[in-house]
Amino acid sequence: MSSRPVFLFNSSAERAAVFRQAFARDLADIIFADDAATVDPDDVRYLITWKIPADLDRYRRLEVVFSIGAGVDQFDRAGLAGGISVVRMVEDGIVRMMQEYVALSVLTLHRDWPAYAAQQSQGIWRALPALQASERRVGFLGLGILAQAAMERLKPFGFALAGWSRSPRTIEGVASFHGAAQLAGFLARTDILVCLLPLTDETRGFLNAELFACLPRGAALVQVGRGPQLDTPALLAALDAGLLSAAVLDVTDPEPLPSDHPLWRHPKVMITPHVASVTQPHTAARAVIDNIRRHRAGQPMIGLVDRARGY
Ligand code: NDP
Ligand code: OXD
Repeated sequence: MSSRPVFLFNSSAERAAVFRQAFARDLADIIFADDAATVDPDDVRYLITWKIPADLDRYRRLEVVFSIGAGVDQFDRAGLAGGISVVRMVEDGIVRMMQEYVALSVLTLHRDWPAYAAQQSQGIWRALPALQASERRVGFLGLGILAQAAMERLKPFGFALAGWSRSPRTIEGVASFHGAAQLAGFLARTDILVCLLPLTDETRGFLNAELFACLPRGAALVQVGRGPQLDTPALLAALDAGLLSAAVLDVTDPEPLPSDHPLWRHPKVMITPHVASVTQPHTAARAVIDNIRRHRAGQPMIGLVDRARGY
């Protein structure tokens, strides 16, 4: 048995191959393992996984649990000993893909693509009134790493940008709102609402009838946070009543969405199967190795989760 620290990898074989190479090159004093049966549990200091394994207690000297994804809502954190750090995935690949997806969605809605698709299906050649980007108010729920990165991509188009977060944020070129007291004011000035909130007790069911009623009539939704944040019947009712004009959903509840679910066939809904942004192994391996170095040097890790806050 070895007494070198072990990094235990619990994700796909394809990702494992990339991580293994990166660890061998950049962190060779740590043993990389992707088969728990081959290691002494007492040597495991680091674990990367999507879900917390049921037998986590056997790793008595575990220091850090990394999420293979940006979210940590899938972790059952109640079972994690207090001394274990939880770190979400912050890496360039996830950021870049989210920038693409949000830019695509906002431009699709801004340029009325769903209405043109409907016209196309009936062979109708008709120009619709077009707003300038500076007249289109795009608002982000959540002003974290992904929302701020997406905004950077939208800035060159000239959209009127705003965001809402828990604590006050100052971001150049963005109107910032925070806290419950400023939510209604933020929503009232938002034509395209992009949700990039983490799933917590506070954000579950957050996209509901009451919130939709605060948006200007005809506003659109881009949901890239987590499925359980959305009250689906309330969305369908708001779309049918014309309160909302369209919705782009990358996340749903449940996932996968059952084939007979009404969302699939709603003419104002566009769905992708939770692909807005996906962990990219090369950049993720670099980010995790950097974080382990930080941890060993006593520096704060990037993406360290505040376990009481839940994100
Ligand atoms: P961050 O932790 O960097 O940012 C979260 C933001 O949400 C912060 O601005 C935070 O406020 C705000 N927030 C959290 N709770 C509340 C609340 N109760 N009220 C108001 N604001 C709140 O997260 P990321 O930007 O990295 O990621 C956001 C989420 O995106 C992830 O948790 C995940 O669910 C989702 N995601 C989806 C993917 C997809 O493919 N669809 C891929 C990757 C991530 P404050 O600034 O005050 O802390
Ligand atoms: C993630 C996701 O959290 O894929 O990374 O949603």
